[in-house]
Order: sequence, then structure tokens, then C-alpha cells
Amino acid sequence: MENKQILCVGLVVLDIINVVDKYPEEDSDSRCLSQRWQRGGNASNSCTVLSLLGAPCAFMGSLAPGHAADFLVADFRRRGVDVSQVAWQSKGETPCSCCIVNSSNGSRTIVLYDTNLPDVSATDFAKVDLTRFKWIHIEGRNASEQVKMLQRIQQHNSQQPPGQRIRVSVEVEKPREELYQLFGYGDVVFVSKDVARHFGFQSAVEALKGLYGRVQKGATLICAWAEQGADALGPDGKVLHSDAFPPPRVVDTLGAGDTFNASIIFSLAQGKTMQEALRFGCQVAGKKCGLQGFDGIA
Ligand code: ADP
Ligand code: FRU
Repeated sequence: MENKQILCVGLVVLDIINVVDKYPEEDSDSRCLSQRWQRGGNASNSCTVLSLLGAPCAFMGSLAPGHAADFLVADFRRRGVDVSQVAWQSKGETPCSCCIVNSSNGSRTIVLYDTNLPDVSATDFAKVDLTRFKWIHIEGRNASEQVKMLQRIQQHNSQQPPGQRIRVSVEVEKPREELYQLFGYGDVVFVSKDVARHFGFQSAVEALKGLYGRVQKGATLICAWAEQGADALGPDGKVLHSDAFPPPRVVDTLGAGDTFNASIIFSLAQGKTMQEALRFGCQVAGKKCGLQGFDGIA
């Protein structure tokens, strides 16, 4: 029973990464230091990190059969991520992104081609055997469908004894109005500094105080803020903070937030306190920023 998995629902995308030591000028022709294909997407990256940390996990998202999907599925398998919940779509293309990682400062510039591939629907999610999971994380995308998924989990949980309930986290990363309804679901809500800034907040603490009213009773809101670390606000009204753990050299911040989220989930699912989880999240995310890709984070 204790081998229950953590399920991450969201995007998987083929990241084509060019590593440079100087950000290119527009309409210039330059060489990069290295190039690689990497499986990306927030939920997909979080699965990579959960697996590296040693947690059994599964990914649920859409793919269209083809070469990109073959690469992505093989990579999930290489990492030991269960792909049995993947929704294979008969129309649309697998998303792809062009990323420039500047290894001099770690910045990542992403141009995502988020294709016409349909997202996982509530109907797909209705077929999932929830008893396999101890934690379900939902990356905010098609929010109105995801609300139905979250309600299904609530309904399931209401019929379980306390120790058997599935814990739930939600990520609101993109500043899109439709996603804001997701604040009201989950035990843990991750809000990005991008969204925080869109609301006009200048710091994680300001964002937590300003947005806490939107989360459900008992939930914790978490906001990461790059070099400034991360903060959390729970039902007791106390703001918790962890400083960042800067690596000797920041070379690649692509997926730092996804690493942070996964590490928090991993830690909380192991019964750690929110303060411990926040510190662990910053530690692992900091380590990731010092590495190209995810190998070596654990
Ligand atoms: P993203 O831009 O990928 O969403 P964030 O900026 O929200 O990521 O950062 C997530 C976490 O990663 C931060 O809380 C911090 O712990 C770590 N992190 C990100 N950038 C750096 C950095 N330059 N130095 C150290 N840690 C960092
Ligand atoms: C990183 C990431 C990349 C992907 C993009 C999608 O957080 O998931 O892997 O290209 O963001 O928005």
C-alpha cells in the first residue's frame, strides 16, 4: 500500500535546447556550445525530479503518436516514470519548444509551440483509478476541465478514512485569468512570481498575503522567487521562508520551478513539515541551477 504513486497532470513537450555563453542578437548567426533534446513541460519535469528523488510517480498528459512522442515516452521510461495514464490523441501535434540556455548566467529563454493538441479532459481523468495515488499534482492549463478533476478527487476523498486521503497540489504559473479559479482547490497551491507580479505584488510575502484569501480552508500557498528563495503561508497565518541555495555557478535555470515544486511535494508526501519542505525545495532547485539538465540533483 505504501508504494502508492505521485501523479502529475499537465504538459509534456520536446525541449530543443541550445546552450550559449552569450545571448544571441536578433537576426545574427552564431554557434552554440552544445545542443540537446530534453523532455520538458512542468508536470513532466516534476516527474523527472520525483523519480530522481526516489518517489514512484506517474505522468498524465497528452501526446500525439510520432517521433517526438517516441522520444518523450522513451525518456519517461528511462527515468522510471509510469506513462500508463498518458492520453494518446488522434489529432494535433506533440508540443515542442525552442530554448536558449545562457550558461554564463543560467537564464532560459523559451519559445513554446503549444500546439492544437487537446489537453487531458475530465472524461479521461474519470477513468483513472485514484486508489493508486497518494498525491496528485495538477499544473494549471485547461482549468475548467481541471476543476472537474479536482472535484472528483474531493468526492473520492470524502469517502476515505483520513489516512487514505489523496493529497492534492495545484500550480498557477501562467498569468491567465482562467487559471485563477484553481486557487480554490488543493492542499498546496504553488503560485509563480510571474502571476504574483501580474497581480501587482513585488515580493513573495506580499503575494501570499494578497492571494491567500483565494485558497480553500486549511490550504497552504507557496511562492518561489528565484534567488530570493521561497515563502509559504498556511492556515495558522504565519509566513514561512527559506533562502535560496545558490550553486557555485548558475548555469541552467530551465525547470528550476518544476524542481522546486517536485521537491516540496516529495518532502510533504514523506511527512515532513512545511518549513522542512520549503528548505528542501530550495536546496534541490538551487542544485539544479548549477547543472545542465536534471542529472545529479539527487
Ligand atoms: P522558475 O523561473 O523556473 O519558475 P523560480 O524562479 O520560481 O523558477 O525558482 C524556483 C526556485 O529555484 C527558487 O525558489 C530557488 O530556490 C531556486 N532558484 C531559481 N533561480 C535560482 C538562482 N539563480 N539561484 C539559486 N536558486 C535559484
Ligand atoms: C520549464 C518548462 C519547459 C517547457 C516550458 C513550457 O518550466 O516546462 O520544459 O518548454 O516550461 O512552458
